[in-house]
Amino acid sequence: MQVIKTVEAIQQILQEYRYASKKIGFVPTMGALHEGHLSLIQKAGTENDIVVASIFVNPTQFNNPEDLDRYPRTPEQDIDRLKESACSIVFLPEVDTIYPADFRAPSVDLGLLDKVMEGKYRPGHFQGVVTVVSRLFEIVQPTNAYFGRKDFQQVAVIKAMTKALSIPVNIIECPTLRDERGLALSSRNLLLTKEDIQTAYHIYETLEYGKKIVALHTPSEVKSLMTNYFMGSKMELEYIEIVDPISLEELTTEWVEGATACIVAHCGNIRLIDNLELTPYG
Ligand code: PAF
Repeated sequence: MQVIKTVEAIQQILQEYRYASKKIGFVPTMGALHEGHLSLIQKAGTENDIVVASIFVNPTQFNNPEDLDRYPRTPEQDIDRLKESACSIVFLPEVDTIYPADFRAPSVDLGLLDKVMEGKYRPGHFQGVVTVVSRLFEIVQPTNAYFGRKDFQQVAVIKAMTKALSIPVNIIECPTLRDERGLALSSRNLLLTKEDIQTAYHIYETLEYGKKIVALHTPSEVKSLMTNYFMGSKMELEYIEIVDPISLEELTTEWVEGATACIVAHCGNIRLIDNLELTPYG
């Protein structure tokens, strides 16, 4: 596995693959890798001729400087884990490699997608995600790029961005990996104490509860019952929303296929995000 830091070096290696019409699989990350990331890399390994992973804690997607400072950074451990995986190239750029002095962020109108839920509570976050992911796509030019469904709204935003900018890449959405009691794997879990983790299980319990009662109620009723169910917890609830999986419009009276409940809660000072599809497709 090669660790590459410059745009020139990675493009030189990858252009040979492109000339030979080989498939390049790409897994962008912010590091602090866990089994969820490794499952994306494994899937990419089965569907491509080469797998590239990037590790870059992107400052433009943090609207809170403290959150950026305390975001876990474990580069040596990450590289060791990647060596054991299907990854052949790790791209580990510095901030000025991604954002050189003459860099101009693309302007993409995301409509409702960056206004609701995370867009409302983390203003500017998705424009930062669009900026970095489009820049990484420009550098790597992948055939397929892999994202976890835990960041459900991010996947919708990235799909819309690739369409708006006509970027020729397939966005592959992969299932959320969970621990044995349902806590969604996340780099931020590294910041939780053992006690916090016990508390955080209530997030998934609330999502599961929503799924159980879906047949008996409207989306608005399910949202309010889930909110009541959550309230017994020590965590502070930021929001629960039940949305259309494509438009992200809030559902109130009617269910649609793939209706998804999204939840954000603060466990101590750690912000945790999760979601679950309440109604199946088909
Ligand atoms: O999901 C993440 O880790 C980040 O938002 C991403 C896609 C790597 C962009 O920085």
